[in-house]
Amino acid sequence: MNIVETIQEVRQIVGEWKKKGLTVGLVPTMGYLHEGHASLIEQAAKQNDKVIVSVFVNPTQFGVNEDLDSYPRDLQHDVKICEQAGGDCIFHPEPEEMYPQGFCSFVDMDVLTKELCGITRPTHFRGVCTVVNKLFNIVMPDRAYFGEKDAQQLAVIRRMVKDLNIPIEIIGCPIIREPDGLAKSSRNTYLSPEERKAALVLYKSISAGKQLVSSGEKRAEIIIQKMTEILTAEPLARIDYVKIVDAETMQPISEIDRPYLAAIAVYIGKTRLIDNFS
Ligand code: PAF
Repeated sequence: MNIVETIQEVRQIVGEWKKKGLTVGLVPTMGYLHEGHASLIEQAAKQNDKVIVSVFVNPTQFGVNEDLDSYPRDLQHDVKICEQAGGDCIFHPEPEEMYPQGFCSFVDMDVLTKELCGITRPTHFRGVCTVVNKLFNIVMPDRAYFGEKDAQQLAVIRRMVKDLNIPIEIIGCPIIREPDGLAKSSRNTYLSPEERKAALVLYKSISAGKQLVSSGEKRAEIIIQKMTEILTAEPLARIDYVKIVDAETMQPISEIDRPYLAAIAVYIGKTRLIDNFS
């Protein structure tokens, strides 16, 4: 397993692979890898000759009062997960490597980023689009892999690739859950034992919403109401949003008459967790 910290090194490695005609998959991550990330790496290893995993806690996607400093980091653990899942190289740059002195160019997006997480985190997607673009330009992979847990992020990246004519195939991979249903997230480590129990309410709410849709309910208002009711019954939970939106544009819809995304963001104590179904 190659672990490199500079743009020059990663470009050289990819350049050698490309000279041999090998295909390259990129799995962008912020590290503290779990089974969700492993599933992305495994998928990338199936579809490409070589896999690069970037491990970079990207400062530009965190708001001022968010968890940039406390975000969990453990490179040794990440190396193990990456190796087991079939990764070939970890790109682990320092913030100064990605954002050197004088950096002032950003990639921004309208419409899709103004809904859902974009309301509470108004600068988040600008940071995500910027770093993902940089990673695309540095690695120039054939395919890039993102989890469906961050469904809005996936929709934003698909839109960015389309709008900016980026010749990379974007692959979305299914949500991986704990045995009791909680979606895997590096932020789950913030939860106290009591909060961890309470966090299950997200899955309960998602399951109830899904059930209603399967039984034929099409009215977004009714589905949202049921999902909200379940979340509200948990004293440790504070709702950020419960919404049903068009799967491509992220704009709210009143009826399920097209591909949709039902998404929730909920604070359990101080930890903000997200989940969805579509
Ligand atoms: O999903 C994440 O972990 C991050 O938003 C990403 C895509 C690695 C960009 O920093």
